[in-house]
Amino acid sequence: EGVAETTGPLSGKRLVVTAGPTREPIDPVRYITNHSSGKMGYALASAAVAAGAEVVLISGPVSLAVPAGVDLRPVSTAQEMLEAASKAVDEGCDIFIATAAVADYRPEVFASEKIKKTNDNMSLSLVRNPDTLATIAARADAPFTVGFAAETTDVARYATDKMQRKKLNMIVANDVSVPGLGFSSDRNAVTVFWPEGSESIGPESKQSIAARLVALIADHSNRIEQ
Ligand code: CTP
Ligand code: CA
Repeated sequence: EGVAETTGPLSGKRLVVTAGPTREPIDPVRYITNHSSGKMGYALASAAVAAGAEVVLISGPVSLAVPAGVDLRPVSTAQEMLEAASKAVDEGCDIFIATAAVADYRPEVFASEKIKKTNDNMSLSLVRNPDTLATIAARADAPFTVGFAAETTDVARYATDKMQRKKLNMIVANDVSVPGLGFSSDRNAVTVFWPEGSESIGPESKQSIAARLVALIADHSNRIEQ
């Protein structure tokens, strides 16, 4: 009585999706984060279940309902996201989709007591976080990997550079400088790149973009297998 389809384009496939922002604690009352509602990742997880996949959703803190039929694994920091993703891929994964807006840096030290204001200026020392998507894509048993790139300029160039650098099978680019689309909006417009081509989708609802992305991903991941 699950909601999974047994005949969809992703039936029998195991998907892992990362979504939402990460939170990097500074002290007990503060953190660094990114803009991300999680809507695109949750819509993709939902569309993948409808296409017959078994879906693990690794999510940073968002205020969204858990999509029916999805195995939700909540995380907070980038380091927790990497751990949860590695474990989920160890359990078996055909397709890995990274929609999460991961904080690239975290505070070097966590202050266990609230930092009090003293001087007019203050600086915070940050260190690089691990890259979940690049780590998964570099595995000897790497699944079909899909990245997302939110850019404000030179969208196509930055996105295709990222696909090559991280050795991805696909990247979904969106121009977050377009007013009314992306981030907290319910609508989006994206261009999907793979090594031999590209396709633009939208502007339309995140649900219908998710359904078209799932169809494209199913098609391309099957081609790679053959
Ligand atoms: N990503 C990830 N782990 C990170 C950083 C990014 O898994 N620590 C994933 C994102 O979920 C996304 C893709 O990598 O699918 C691209 O993220 P983006 O922030 O655009 O790329 P970066 O490599 O971090 O480059 P920059 O922020 O400098 O543009
Ligand atoms: Ca980044």
